[in-house]
Amino acid sequence: MTEAAAAPQTERKKIIFSAIQPTGVFTLGNYIGAVRNWGKLQEDYNCLYCVADLHAITVRQEPAALRKRTLEAYALLMACGIDPERSILFIQSHNPHHTGMSWVLNCFTQFGELSRMTQFKDKSARYANDVNAGLFTYPVLMATDILLYQTDYVPVGEDQRQHLEITRDIAGRFNGVYGPTLTLPEPFIPKAEQGARIMSLQDPTKKMSKSDPNPKAFISILDEPGVILKKFRSAVTDSEARVACAPGKEGINNLMGIYSVLTGKDFAAIEEEFAGRGYGDFKTAVGEAVVQELAPVQARYKELMADKGYLEECYRRGAQQAMALSRRTIEKVYRRVGFLQP
Ligand code: TRP
Repeated sequence: MTEAAAAPQTERKKIIFSAIQPTGVFTLGNYIGAVRNWGKLQEDYNCLYCVADLHAITVRQEPAALRKRTLEAYALLMACGIDPERSILFIQSHNPHHTGMSWVLNCFTQFGELSRMTQFKDKSARYANDVNAGLFTYPVLMATDILLYQTDYVPVGEDQRQHLEITRDIAGRFNGVYGPTLTLPEPFIPKAEQGARIMSLQDPTKKMSKSDPNPKAFISILDEPGVILKKFRSAVTDSEARVACAPGKEGINNLMGIYSVLTGKDFAAIEEEFAGRGYGDFKTAVGEAVVQELAPVQARYKELMADKGYLEECYRRGAQQAMALSRRTIEKVYRRVGFLQP
């Protein structure tokens, strides 16, 4: 046995990949359910995070607005704790391997399985006058994002589970034909209290969404403190006036979830804290906890947006790093399918 082989092997850190579309300022739901946790993973994993602008154009975008939102999303990710010195933070369209590999994987994906995607069914109903092929093959691009970097874990919400399943199916199929080439990713499930699913403040049976036509339904992470407090004060609850978690009290359950994640208090402690007090006090307390949590994020965001040169430096470097990694995978894939080396 050689000395090198005998030496203790330092185990490679697992790879995490996730992405967010630049289709508007993130909501409190995106923040608590996803982005806030991404920063915490940087210690223990090799993380790649991406602004998915290629995905965004599956729905018609105004060019100037898309450009602006892409830069804003990039800065927001940094403001939420993603450190471009520790993670690879990049913009999807800056790495051409995504589109190149996506074509190959399209040829390993069946029409039938794409037709069964619930998101496609929803979106093709919602944008019935523009059911473009990109909307249909969206999951293949998402699979590409993940597979290009030999990702081990993907932190995703419930709504993206099906896309992760198809990613595994596509990778498995490719490997079945050509031998082990692509790592099969697994969903990364954050600890329950971190991954709270944040619901609309106006209809707490629906997920909080940045595209909700009613701005009172969601908190944007850049909302002013006064606006945040007001939105919480007008949050839909019930007529029981008792701060306690129970079926049928979706509004209160949601507010308790938010308060719990931000303060670290469990539901029993919250019930005790607000025993005998009305919803007014509780809503104010939740609003204040949110204001306090978002203050440093908003301050950092302002600083970053005032220094475009620095942002540009970061996303350029991110693109180079992403490309250096994905080149290994795409070259292997091109070789395996039989493309003549250029
Ligand atoms: N489709 C995801 C969303 O809308 C965004 C996304 C694109 C993504 N590529 C990804 C998420 C790869 C996880 C991994 O939320």
